[in-house]
Amino acid sequence: ERIPFVEDLIKQMTIEEKVGQTAQITLDVITQGNGHSSNEPLQMDTALITEALVKYHVGSVLNTANNRARDVQTWHHVVSSIQKVALEDTRLKIPVLYGIDAIHGATYTAEATMFPQQIAQAATWNRDLVYQAAQATAAETRASNIPWNFSPVLDLGVDPRWPRMWETFGEDPYLISEMGVEVIKGYQGNDLNSSTTVAACLKHFIGYSTLASSGKDRTPSEISDISLREYHLPPFRKAVESGVASVMINSGLINGIPVHSSHDIITGLLKNELGFNGLVVTDWADIENLHNRDKVASSHKEAIRLAFNAGIDMSMIPYNYVQYYDLLVELVHEEAVSMERLNDAVRRILNLKYKLGLFERPVVEPNSAVFSDAHKKLAYLAASEAITLLKNEAGLLPLSQNTKVLVAGPNANSMRTVNGGWSYSWQGEKVEEFAQDYNTILESLEIKFGKSNVVYVPGVEYDFGGRTYLDEHQVDIQAAVDAARNVDVIILCLGENTYTEKPGDLSDLMISENQEKLAIELAKTGKPIVLVLNEGRPRIIRRFADSMDAIVQTYLSGNHTGDALADILTGEVNPSGKLPYTYPMFSNSLVMYYHKHSEQSKTPEGMYDYGGGVYHQFGFGHGLSYTSFNYSNLVVSQEEFDENDELWVSVDVENTGEVAGKEVVMLFSSDLYASLAPDVKRLRRFDKIHLNAGETKKVTFSISADDFSFINAQGNRVTEAGEFTLSIAQLSETIKLLE
Ligand code: IFM
Repeated sequence: ERIPFVEDLIKQMTIEEKVGQTAQITLDVITQGNGHSSNEPLQMDTALITEALVKYHVGSVLNTANNRARDVQTWHHVVSSIQKVALEDTRLKIPVLYGIDAIHGATYTAEATMFPQQIAQAATWNRDLVYQAAQATAAETRASNIPWNFSPVLDLGVDPRWPRMWETFGEDPYLISEMGVEVIKGYQGNDLNSSTTVAACLKHFIGYSTLASSGKDRTPSEISDISLREYHLPPFRKAVESGVASVMINSGLINGIPVHSSHDIITGLLKNELGFNGLVVTDWADIENLHNRDKVASSHKEAIRLAFNAGIDMSMIPYNYVQYYDLLVELVHEEAVSMERLNDAVRRILNLKYKLGLFERPVVEPNSAVFSDAHKKLAYLAASEAITLLKNEAGLLPLSQNTKVLVAGPNANSMRTVNGGWSYSWQGEKVEEFAQDYNTILESLEIKFGKSNVVYVPGVEYDFGGRTYLDEHQVDIQAAVDAARNVDVIILCLGENTYTEKPGDLSDLMISENQEKLAIELAKTGKPIVLVLNEGRPRIIRRFADSMDAIVQTYLSGNHTGDALADILTGEVNPSGKLPYTYPMFSNSLVMYYHKHSEQSKTPEGMYDYGGGVYHQFGFGHGLSYTSFNYSNLVVSQEEFDENDELWVSVDVENTGEVAGKEVVMLFSSDLYASLAPDVKRLRRFDKIHLNAGETKKVTFSISADDFSFINAQGNRVTEAGEFTLSIAQLSETIKLLE
């Protein structure tokens, strides 16, 4: 894309100035003391900024969320100190592009509205809420002068062992695609040059989330071309089509090739095939990693050569920028990186700065009004539509407000656990300090049931002293058991402490032993138990799930989790969340709902199962309501169709219960026979509707032959003639695609 202003600038730039534009440094490099982990106030160091921007022409800065959470005033100071040097002291007066991880709200400021994390947003199945949350996040982010957000994650959430599962929209490519587009629309709006929009950054292109063996973060993936294109690519394709501004590359290896060095993936697939003309940035230190970690480059210089020639435009260096700069300048002089490639990278970077309006307005005045009550209300709404009722035996829920309850478990009284990682700081260590104005689950329950009706005995607690604690430490299970004798109902809050990336690696997907013990001992009291799960990924609960009377999944629903949960437990809000992933029952059955027919596992009784309910504790899309819905009258407009036809599929949904509720209507298709073993079923469409008690609505979807296409053995997307089943809830119709 040629923008005359940018083309003119490129013509004036020296090789050194161009190379500098491709460099992204962390804030630590230009702050006094250290911006990374110290508790001292952030001190911008003009000499260090000048060195980076004037001498080395650095074009971009990122803050890691590990910096202390700050108010917009501080961010204004940070960004304006940088832009002042860029615009007053550099030869060409090119503004700096500041990027940040504002992944569920402007998560690095104390005032931010903390929306549910992506996994919980997916559980709402509500496109509009996801759109609005992104819009609010963009406004709050831009208010602190940051125009570039490293979000959304469009990796598939297919391996619950992966410590970034909760950063995804779950396991389904279609659901991810739909939510991804909403986020991009919300962040970018119609114009990036606005005080309320930010540039989105898809990550991590591509295949990050499939871990070949250990399930640990940044371990190698083996992904066939067929699965890459069938499952991983569609969300990215759709996001590129919707005009996303930037893409971050997967830190890992696919089939032995680090993605950062893969010309096939970055230039071939992303830039040429998908037609992406925006900015491609590395992940943290991932050029150096080609040399230091992955060993595909025998020197740092060779790593830079490989990455640039593969199609990287900007390097998140993030520390040793002088070395990077010297080496890339050398490579260009030696023509090991061509001037054409360098110009292309610089053009993509400057185009984005231009579109963001940074040349004319590099800094906006701080505006605290943007952190509005309307945003907080929206975050509450999103939490209340995310929380998913997984089990409700004998209608235990909703509870009446004068129930006497015991609240137990390590997740009951923490703002940290409900927010998860990347909240105020990278591993969430700062949450308790910054989220004091919000209610923990316990506090919300005390408000709802009245303090005198609530007894709190955690039984098991996390040690919040450190940076990351996946397992709890303090244990007094007997005290919780004793307290249970005097209450009507136990609300048991189990799950995980905060984590992300490597610090969240697990050796065992079972929920921790002490929590399991607490659940088993409390169940022996015979008191009804509501199990509240508060976890970033589904931890296995098989050994005690049957003895829980009700199970509610809260995921990581942000600062309003407690209030939304309390409203759901008492029936003021009718739950409408649905699982965006399959909840496994066994750690050796981590199987998606769209598995192949041959994916068989033994049931506990030793029987083989071919796709029934035994792989999982709860299926993809599962979620109960306090009302009941009846589906009838499934009609498909044609029994036979060809590739030019548009089909209409309609169904009547009736609220047959006593209260109003929201229902997610999901249309699945199954290809009965295909040249490549077909998936058991695939989600093709969904809609979330509201129904008053007794009300019926007709839901109509349109679908065409394209929707039944798949990647065949030759790697081509094809549609094969034959029969397909369309199903909604328990209803199904078979249709035929003609030759
Ligand atoms: O955006 C993140 C990425 O998801 C993981 N590594 C660091 C980046 C910048 O903070």
